[in-house]
Amino acid sequence: MVFLKINNLKVYYPIRGGFFRRVVDHVKAVDDISFELKQGETYGLVGESGCGKTTTGRSIIGLTKSTAGEIIFEDKDLTKLSRKDYHNYRRDIQMIFQDPYSSLNPRKRVLDIVAEPLRNFEKLTIAEERQKVQFYIEKVGLSPEDVYKYPHEFSGGQRQRIGIARALTLNPKLIIADEPVSALDVSVQAQVLNFMQDIQKEFNLTYLFISHDLGIIQHMCDRIGIMYRGQFVEEGAAEDIYTNPQHIYTKRLISAIPDINPKNRDKQVEFRKKVNEEYKNSYDKYFNAEGKVYKLKQISNTHSVALP
Ligand SMILES: Nc1ncnc2c1ncn2[C@@H]1O[C@H](COP(=O)(O)OP(=O)(O)O)[C@@H](O)[C@H]1O
Ligand SMILES: [Mg+2]
Repeated sequence: MVFLKINNLKVYYPIRGGFFRRVVDHVKAVDDISFELKQGETYGLVGESGCGKTTTGRSIIGLTKSTAGEIIFEDKDLTKLSRKDYHNYRRDIQMIFQDPYSSLNPRKRVLDIVAEPLRNFEKLTIAEERQKVQFYIEKVGLSPEDVYKYPHEFSGGQRQRIGIARALTLNPKLIIADEPVSALDVSVQAQVLNFMQDIQKEFNLTYLFISHDLGIIQHMCDRIGIMYRGQFVEEGAAEDIYTNPQHIYTKRLISAIPDINPKNRDKQVEFRKKVNEEYKNSYDKYFNAEGKVYKLKQISNTHSVALP
């Protein structure tokens, strides 16, 4: 069975202008990408701000309508389901949002925030509901009494744990984590990431992990898609991408990862220089006349690159 397969996904946003607010052009936020997730793995979507990562995630979960392409989840194309059928799939796919400060309603108690998905899908008694919420709140490392508190009583890392508890309550199969630690202090980022790996095993979760930070992606992901202006420039096993990057854009991202080992610092400065040099001199090799990337080509069983 196919767990999740994205085929030729396009998401174009209309740009309106003039007196009649006519559609004058489109932003091609996602422009023909294809990739597959196997159950239990972590797939990373990486690229600089504005390259279409969030739009990809939102269209998979149905928050943004796709313009073209297929989103196959467990052998069914989600883009072709009726609203009612789609509802059933929504419990299997949950999302963790970037900003734990704005994604939790400040006027609601943790109990009501975490119980919200349950209320949409299950008819539980008040006691059952509280029990379930407290179970997940403890799973994410908070205490059962915390369900009576409000979001402002927690730190950023704790709030993100509340967001994760909310995503877990329906026992989902796929979690789309959109920059889940970008808004957090570096000191708590690692904690939340390690915690996400622990619960992945415990609850048999598959992650689509979105980040602009290639260092974090390396820590988390089995396979990776590198996005540039709505398209993939490189795709494949994490190991291939990190040890043998082929596209200049990927090389630039990798050369920018800070190396904490001082022994490697000279080597890294050297690599960064080389990559910048190559970028200046052979831009034409990697981008066509319109400045767009080429179509992906497979260069091994586990590695594809967008080269002419
Ligand atoms: N609702 C929207 N309407 C119009 N344009 C949008 C909308 N959301 C995103 N965009 C544009 O689509 C592109 C991709 O955005 P996004 O998916 O948020 O990128 P990322 O998450 O990689 O930073 C950007 O150019 C952004 O400005
Ligand atoms: Mg984003």
